[in-house]
Amino acid sequence: MLLTKDATLPLRAPDPAFRRDILEGLSREPKATPPIWFYDRRGSELFEAITDLPEYYPTRTETALLEKYGADFAAMVGPGRAVVEFGAGSARKTPHLLRAIDPAAYVPIDISGEFLHASSAELASTFPGLPVLPVVGDFNRDPSLPTAVEGLPRLGFFPGSTIGNMEPEAAVDLLRAMHRLLGEGSMLLIGMDRIKDRDRLIAAYDDAAGVTAAFNLNLIARINRELEGDMPLDGFAHRARWNDEKARIEMHLEAVRPLHFHVAGQCFRMATGETIHTESSHKYGTRDERLLLRAGGWEPLREWTDADGLFSLILAEA
Ligand code: AVI
Repeated sequence: MLLTKDATLPLRAPDPAFRRDILEGLSREPKATPPIWFYDRRGSELFEAITDLPEYYPTRTETALLEKYGADFAAMVGPGRAVVEFGAGSARKTPHLLRAIDPAAYVPIDISGEFLHASSAELASTFPGLPVLPVVGDFNRDPSLPTAVEGLPRLGFFPGSTIGNMEPEAAVDLLRAMHRLLGEGSMLLIGMDRIKDRDRLIAAYDDAAGVTAAFNLNLIARINRELEGDMPLDGFAHRARWNDEKARIEMHLEAVRPLHFHVAGQCFRMATGETIHTESSHKYGTRDERLLLRAGGWEPLREWTDADGLFSLILAEA
């Protein structure tokens, strides 16, 4: 741990992967940074706030599906499975699934140990008797499962349409990695966000209260704090765009005037209107969802959706 000049405020050494990704991303043409870096403490709080926004339909819709179709999941999945949740975060949707299917163990995997241990402790107290075995790690990098779940049938759980934040090639790689980790005969319950009316999609990523704008702009605050940056917060505006060709919402940080700033000792310039592409959120047609799953080694078994067809929960088999 480093100390600041006045030796009172502890300052953590910058994460080398954060430094590398941001410097690479700002040097690229057009500029683009990976969305994983949104989620510092403030970013995670802002994301939680997004999930409660009236415009942000995915969380509400998916949670309602999990509540409504518990008996279906139980019938299809059966009891006694180890439920492995990828990127568990605050795991707010998980109790609905665990209550429905009578699992043998719950294994949440998340990169943020702090968040993971807090949510695991809460789940363990809600489900006394259920072994809760958190794994701190990056599920993109082939983590290993606890030995206690060896031999148990498995159900992967990947809610939230987080898969949509990956480029198609990376999404397929991840599905294949999940197949390898969970093994033949396992199942996967995955949330995917559907293609829909453009205005509805834009509103979900550019809400009236400005919470998504704050979430996007928080990346600049994080860069300034952790990478000795001097990016002017008032030099950027949040933009959400629908890219129809790629069927995705894109979030950008657009320069509102000519900018000249520094990050980790390197100098960058941006012209007015130039953007940093900070996130893509792919949306899927019903056939796209199945194609993606099959390309990743998963055969779709059944799909549940809401009355307006906004969001899908799909059960697939390895
Ligand atoms: C985490 N992920 C699925 C969210 C999404 O909808 O793509 C992240 C998000 N970005 C802006 N709003 C929500």
